[in-house]
Amino acid sequence: MRLAVRPWIWAVLEQLTVFVSQTLDHRVKESDNKLGVGMPFPGVSSRALHNVDLYAVEKELYLGSLCQVQSDNKPWQFWMVMLKNGNFDTTSGLCPENGKKIEPFPDTTRRFPCFGKGCMNQPVLYHQKTEYDSETGVMRGWFNGSYDLADANSEKASFYQVIWEKKKKEKEGSWVFNHKIKTSKKYPWLMLYLRADATSGFSGGYHYQTRGMMSILPESPNFKVKLTLEIQNGGGPKSQFYLIDIGSCWKNNGEACDGDVVTDVTRYSEMIINPETPSWCNPKSVQNCPPYHIDQYDRVIYRNDTARFPYSAYHYYCVPGNAKHAEKPYSVCDPYSNPQAQELVQILPHPVWEIYGYPTKQGDGWIGDPRTWDLDVGGLSGRLYFYQDPGTAPAKRIWTSIDVGTEIFVSDKDEVAEWSLSDFDVLLPKI
Ligand SMILES: *[C@@H]1O[C@H](CO)[C@@H](O)[C@H](O)[C@H]1NC(C)=O
Ligand SMILES: *[C@@H]1O[C@H](CO)[C@@H](O)[C@H](O)[C@H]1NC(C)=O
Repeated sequence: MRLAVRPWIWAVLEQLTVFVSQTLDHRVKESDNKLGVGMPFPGVSSRALHNVDLYAVEKELYLGSLCQVQSDNKPWQFWMVMLKNGNFDTTSGLCPENGKKIEPFPDTTRRFPCFGKGCMNQPVLYHQKTEYDSETGVMRGWFNGSYDLADANSEKASFYQVIWEKKKKEKEGSWVFNHKIKTSKKYPWLMLYLRADATSGFSGGYHYQTRGMMSILPESPNFKVKLTLEIQNGGGPKSQFYLIDIGSCWKNNGEACDGDVVTDVTRYSEMIINPETPSWCNPKSVQNCPPYHIDQYDRVIYRNDTARFPYSAYHYYCVPGNAKHAEKPYSVCDPYSNPQAQELVQILPHPVWEIYGYPTKQGDGWIGDPRTWDLDVGGLSGRLYFYQDPGTAPAKRIWTSIDVGTEIFVSDKDEVAEWSLSDFDVLLPKI
């Protein structure tokens, strides 16, 4: 998972539409979308007005306020479409290392894709606001574009596209989001997700206020996620398709994050359903496994217990770069993905996850096997291992982001992934 400035803010926020007879009333106008650094808007701070990073943050809050829906005093704003690319120009000095500012450095081991100066550019974007077709009763909008600025329309260019549609008459029906992402030689590491983010506070990977869809945050172990997923194209062997990815943040002492990037730690857990994804965690590479697995009877099984540890249930586990007491041997997560350190628990289809309704074998839910999933994400995430300093009280596992999509993690050739997602819902127990 790598961080990107949230470039979609201006394109996506128009999805909250209200019917006025047979037309759509767009609450976010083109002039709002087009707001750029230096252009004032209601509420913008003088500090942010001429600073592109701070401006983007405040613009998200402003656009969120425009399309906010008041329901039972729990306002919500929008779905988030997240497009990211993993290019990193290490000579730019742009990405801190586990929250600490670093000097530019040459990437001598070529850990990150970068074709040279300018490889961290924002993409081009074409956008069609949601329109209503009164004959079919369908609302539909889209955006697409490419990171390859010079030859964005060529066959060889990277490409992304999201088309959203919904039948007006079917009150119960949900939006259907159709996604497509294609890598290119210059942009071999791309990510595209649909995220339900917290309506306030920090969402997964961010150390500043964001906006979103979830007004009540789900907490392990008591929540479920329902969704319908149909994958038409997998994206090749490097495509880490996340049936579900959950993101949060807490400190190594278990306390909630407060925006201090040196001690905050982003935590992610991801179920990867591409059957070509290997298990990097195995008896010969226990540094890629969490120290232990907790089974459905709450028994702890250590990773050195070769007879009982479910190695193939894990793709990769890595410790946060600021963990002081990680159990050796270990693998440290990419220190540059987020402003703060991160921890990843990446899992694979396996019978140990069956009680949570997760895929149990390779190929479940993959191409040719569209499904509606009812996942006990809370139950599973309550039993995963996450690092904390010894002797500290366990963190409350409150999830601020839940998303579905793929991360094509450095493809060797141009790859295409295509899928549609609908009926995405986070279910909480009735209080
Ligand atoms: C973006 O989508 C529109 C509408 O479907 C299409 O006409 C256009 O060719 C797409 N852009 C690219 C670069 O494919
Ligand atoms: C396995 O690991 C646990 C936890 O680190 C340790 O207490 C135990 O002694 C180890 N067992 C063996 C057989 O090495």
